[in-house]
Amino acid sequence: LLEEWYDEIKNATAVERIEEIRISVFGKKGILAAEFAKMKSAPNEEKSKIAKELNTHKSSLMELLTNKKIELQTKELEEKMKEEGIDVSLFGTKSEAGALHPVMETMDRMVEYFVALNFSVKTGNIVEDDFHNFEALNLPKYHPARDMQDTFYFKDEMLLRTHTSPVQIRTMMSQKPPIRMIAPGAVFRRDYDITHTPMFHQIEGLLVDEEGKVSFANLKYIMEDFLKYMFGDVDVRFRPSFFPFTEPSSEVDISCVFCKGDGCRVCSHTGWIEILGCGIVDPNVFEAVEYENVSGYAFGLGVERIAMLIHQIGDLRSLFEGDIKLLEQFQ
Ligand code: PHE
Repeated sequence: LLEEWYDEIKNATAVERIEEIRISVFGKKGILAAEFAKMKSAPNEEKSKIAKELNTHKSSLMELLTNKKIELQTKELEEKMKEEGIDVSLFGTKSEAGALHPVMETMDRMVEYFVALNFSVKTGNIVEDDFHNFEALNLPKYHPARDMQDTFYFKDEMLLRTHTSPVQIRTMMSQKPPIRMIAPGAVFRRDYDITHTPMFHQIEGLLVDEEGKVSFANLKYIMEDFLKYMFGDVDVRFRPSFFPFTEPSSEVDISCVFCKGDGCRVCSHTGWIEILGCGIVDPNVFEAVEYENVSGYAFGLGVERIAMLIHQIGDLRSLFEGDIKLLEQFQ
């Protein structure tokens, strides 16, 4: 009867089967225990012979079982490793990473330039009142220059700021000179064509110091240095211009891209694109914020115009259509 178990062990194919066999053979109610029990009723002279035989079986069965268990365990482990192993030669699944919008990425780079020069970063309000957006900036009611800014008005005389210049006023009214600030943010105008969207971004700059300390030459230097930082070697053109809040004022153009084959067209036939307005702060502005014996310069940079040139985007409006195919190109 015991002999059968040798084959049982040899034929086992799973580790669980080994455990079943162990219980059947070596367990309290197992076959060995039963055989030893039977031995008790055997005649005395045969007992030692039977005991010897049984003990021999016991140890060889145990040895066989142990070896079989190790063999099966090793085999199972190998199979498992084969199943779970990573095939490094297979293609992985790519996870999509998000990225900054090209306008935000450009704005960050612009801000970095001024932060490195110790300009502090201010934010104002997107919904503004007439005083901060116009009046204090030397743009009295009914002044024709208000037409320059196609304003979105709310019913209650509030408006969407048309430029970041109101942040100049808010900053000067809340702190004493000297001032060295920039204000990046969204602005709004009723305008829509290849180079205009109703919402766009500016970075305002304002520097105020003692009277006689700030000159147009200082302004021109920093604007040119900034443009070199953004574009490397680029042609810059200062044009005399008018803003109610600066005198003298200038608009600045840089030479623009015109690609023929692939259709990018960032500039007009003139070969220049306007990207900023600047000037020496008008005394009327200082008067409105009750600053005395100071001088300063101010500038307003168009972020989208700069992003368009850097990325050679032909139509500004495409930046705000949320077309993932376009945005993916800026990862
Ligand atoms: N606020 C002006 C505009 O939006 C730009 C500007 C800012 C010009 C500061 C001069 C000084 O057109």
